[in-house]
Amino acid sequence: MPRASSLPDPEATAALVRRRSSVRPRLAIILGSGFGGVATAVQVASRFATRDLPGFPVGRVPGHAGELLLGEWNGVPVAVLSGRGHFYEGFDLAEVGFPVRVLAALGVESILLTNAAGGIHPRLKPGTFMAIADHINFMGANPLRGPVAKGRERFVDLGAVYDAGLRRALAHAAKVARVKLREGVYLAVSGPSFETPAEIRAFRTLGADAVGMSTVPEAIVARQCGLRVAGLSCITNAAAGLGNGGVSHAEVLEAARAVAGRATTLVGEFVRYHGIPDI
Ligand code: HPA
Repeated sequence: MPRASSLPDPEATAALVRRRSSVRPRLAIILGSGFGGVATAVQVASRFATRDLPGFPVGRVPGHAGELLLGEWNGVPVAVLSGRGHFYEGFDLAEVGFPVRVLAALGVESILLTNAAGGIHPRLKPGTFMAIADHINFMGANPLRGPVAKGRERFVDLGAVYDAGLRRALAHAAKVARVKLREGVYLAVSGPSFETPAEIRAFRTLGADAVGMSTVPEAIVARQCGLRVAGLSCITNAAAGLGNGGVSHAEVLEAARAVAGRATTLVGEFVRYHGIPDI
């Protein structure tokens, strides 16, 4: 596994993509569990296996394909990454965040980060969606640790990670798509074990509405790169101790499958409206 400091120059990976695709994406979307259907809705012009993109973490989780798609969706040039790297797979957070640097180098202005999450807030039932209003980094690490990326800031302001305009666009998209969407705070843990009921009670006290194992590293890197960030969680299960019985990956995947159609519609409408000011 490469060390963070041995990651390639993201500009070089972006140049490789640019040489093989004429698409100039304005919006990037990273797909988590529950959002895989998005990849089938995009009019794909170019397709890259992540193993062919220097520096990209190559994941091994079932249901995470490992592709970067460039194309158009609802009139917007997009880059869609399916199969992100996770901290729990053994990648360090700089590696997890590397694709975001490449997407920024490709010229995207905004990024939508999607994930599956456990619901902590009583109104976040399985099958509902949550727009991320803010996050709590409980991973115990930071993707910006180590050498400062060329031309980037050392100390990055996280006072407003999730862009207000993009949150309005998500709310509007949910209305159009007739999908129930709430806003809340996403707490990221390292995983891969699920939480204990005592941890979930503690996270509730800390102000968390949902819990998951991704998104936060990419959001932090995206802010360092100056991107507008949106976050969207698909609530796949009641967090530990709040539902009937335990939490399982099979349950998460099954719930994700069940909402795939609605997730795709919601994201499609977000794509359509995300660039329109004052929505
Ligand atoms: N905990 C952590 N990550 C998750 C969960 C959960 O309950 N559900 C989906 N991803």
